[in-house]
Amino acid sequence: MNDLTPTREQRTAALEGMGCKRKRVEDARFTQGKGNYVDDVKLPGMLHGDFVRSPHAHARVKSINSEEALKVPGVLAVITAETLKTVNLAWMPTLAGDVQMVLADGKVLFQNQEVAFVVATDRYAADDGINKVVVEYEPLPVVIDPFKAMDKDAPVLREDLTGKTSGAHGPRKHHNHIFEWTVGDKDLTDAAFRKAEVTVKEMISYHRTHPSPLETCQCVCSFDKIGGELTIWGTFQAPHVIRTVVALIAKLPEQKIHVISPDVGGGFGNKVGAYPGYICAAVASIVTGKPVKWVEDRIENLTATSFARDYHMTTEIAATKEGKVTGLRVHVLADHGAFDACADPSKWPAGFFNIVTGSYDFPTAHLSVDGIYTNKAPGGVAYRCSFRVTEAAYCIERGMDILAQKVGMDPAELRLKNFIRKEQFPYHSALGWEYDSGDYHTAMRKMMETVNYASLRSEQAAMREAFKRGETREIMGLGVSFFTEIVGAGPSKNCDILGIAMFDSCEIRLHPTGAGIARVGTKSTGQGHETTWAQIIATEIGLPADNIMVEEGNTDTAPYGLGTYGSRSTPVAGAAIAMAARKIKAKAQMIAAYKLEVHEDDLEWDIDGFRVKGLPEKTMSMKDICWAAYNSVPPGMEPGLEAVSYYDPPNMTYPFGAYICVMNIDVDTGVYKIRRFYALDDCGTRINPMIIEGQVHGGLTEAFAIAMGQEIRYDPEGNVVTGSFMDFFMPTAVETPHWETDFTVTPSPHHPIGAKGVGESPNVGGVPAFSNAVNDAFSFLGSTHIQMPHDYWRNWAAAKNLGVLAA
Ligand code: CDP
Repeated sequence: MNDLTPTREQRTAALEGMGCKRKRVEDARFTQGKGNYVDDVKLPGMLHGDFVRSPHAHARVKSINSEEALKVPGVLAVITAETLKTVNLAWMPTLAGDVQMVLADGKVLFQNQEVAFVVATDRYAADDGINKVVVEYEPLPVVIDPFKAMDKDAPVLREDLTGKTSGAHGPRKHHNHIFEWTVGDKDLTDAAFRKAEVTVKEMISYHRTHPSPLETCQCVCSFDKIGGELTIWGTFQAPHVIRTVVALIAKLPEQKIHVISPDVGGGFGNKVGAYPGYICAAVASIVTGKPVKWVEDRIENLTATSFARDYHMTTEIAATKEGKVTGLRVHVLADHGAFDACADPSKWPAGFFNIVTGSYDFPTAHLSVDGIYTNKAPGGVAYRCSFRVTEAAYCIERGMDILAQKVGMDPAELRLKNFIRKEQFPYHSALGWEYDSGDYHTAMRKMMETVNYASLRSEQAAMREAFKRGETREIMGLGVSFFTEIVGAGPSKNCDILGIAMFDSCEIRLHPTGAGIARVGTKSTGQGHETTWAQIIATEIGLPADNIMVEEGNTDTAPYGLGTYGSRSTPVAGAAIAMAARKIKAKAQMIAAYKLEVHEDDLEWDIDGFRVKGLPEKTMSMKDICWAAYNSVPPGMEPGLEAVSYYDPPNMTYPFGAYICVMNIDVDTGVYKIRRFYALDDCGTRINPMIIEGQVHGGLTEAFAIAMGQEIRYDPEGNVVTGSFMDFFMPTAVETPHWETDFTVTPSPHHPIGAKGVGESPNVGGVPAFSNAVNDAFSFLGSTHIQMPHDYWRNWAAAKNLGVLAA
């Protein structure tokens, strides 16, 4: 070894593997305007499609007249449900086992529902055509309030289901009922409540909101009549699933369907499902023989393509008077809108809401969920959320604060008292999950020490006294939130989409010069997979991350995967990547043993290659092994160095975190000021700390938006009153507070690299932290629970209701 020989640290650093704050490779094109999004796809002769949409939330469609529209220069066709019926596509299956109209078939069920699809030579002509389509409607009574949907005399919304007493998830109790889902031990839980020294009960609503990604949903469909092949460029979070769905419903051979997700500008669950725009553009392309583009505008995105939450959770906790929980009972009224188009694994009509026992050791629990139809847009997507875990975390984290208030305990102390202890993992929850690992007490105490929780409480106490004396009009709230997530859908034993198990996949192919390509079944919509997947490979097989190109999103080249949502990419595909790399390493070891003329067992791994045990100077680098794989492999071995792995995870992963929000509210104006927000996340092994930090910043910003104002609101007639960014709160850097991030590391015991997902965590943990801060601020004035979103007006209204406004 001379001075120029790199040290072990230098060799490790040169790989930029796991743990390195590697800069995002995709940013080179994004920051220079060279991203390639769906709207950048421009094909010769491409046509444009746009929708006629319903102004009514519930109406019979008496007639559609396209005569004048077809006279508009450039308009080539107007597609209606009648047209789609000729190809059996007027209705489409949803991911939740329901069916959904592609175009209005006899009636409309929500405002802005798709009624007709106008195809024209350009977008402007299509828009002119839309204005000339004459639709005659007969308005019908509207159901917007979910609590009235199952009234005896509530209007029948889904006439197509008349006489159907059961749906995809069992019996239906009412014409607007979709399903009832129950979990847990009812008798034991009821008994716990009968015996309880203390009980609390509150209806906690998580309002309807929307993921609103920067780029709306869109596609370009191009049908090649000669070859019978359909190519679809689309904003898809799960391109392989889209290909299979298209094959099934359009009855096209799957090998003749090519689905490509190019760069996608944010998904957040909005781009998992199939929408009428995709079907109409595909049909239009098949009919015209020309490529057809459909690009949603912002109002359409907010009002028609999916929504999130709309869960109304009656929450009861039983406890001792010392604050030890003894039972949890939750009933959810789940508003699914006009069609049940929730994007959940098939067997889970309420997603993973049964994680609602949270981070606490509940000896028993019972949960029931009623899904119902209303005259609102369909969806129920997991907005930066692992299938209703966000609703569950909000429910239990508000519930624990309400219990703390009732028993007169500090909310943080109450949590510490009830946490699942480190030695209880793997932990079996009362509602059926097996939590893989956790160390909640350490995380909570680290949070409390870092922010100096005790002194914040003293400051709050002093401020409350000052308020009572009339010396200040501000009140102070501390919003504590401790969440446990469930991410990594999922194990084939309990997770599938339309019958396809939710595994994920990776194919790695190394080239002679020590470089390679990795193709993965996931699809980044901004999470930086091109950067982090290469880091896993770098650490596993000792080639620099820069030498590995990562490709996702093309169904012709990527192995079959279930896509990216619900923080499943790292738990599932991240494992597939490590396993594929390990297959490569095993073959590399055989090649190295042959070249070094030793037995394989005499070799040991050393950062970027193999060395002979006891003879550290006798080594073979992975780079050299790559070369050897193409010219001198052991006799009988196939040349080349590539591997594929399909990974079916044995369990979900359970990331967790301790968050706190410190907020002041002026009671007379409702104006709040977020003084401090601290977020500690534990996602097990950290692949790229900088990307994790970015994920947490983004997720907290969304949590802030949702908790403090972002809402899809309807008037009693079913008009969406928050249908643009003028009314739908979309925070900019100006409103967004400063985020402090921190971490602990508790690896997942079953994941090959110990990693858990992180992308959803800040949204899951952030919302209760904000809401608890507002509620904590008002609690000393006699308030128990104030519903979200906590915008200025609602804060002012809360103060008014409590009788503390200035005279
Ligand atoms: O499924 P999705 O990509 O949205 O979520 P994720 O699996 O939580 O990953 C989000 C990003 O954070 C990816 O680039 C991951 O590689 C990265 N990450 C990480 O660096 N370390 C972890 N333990 C988890 C995620």
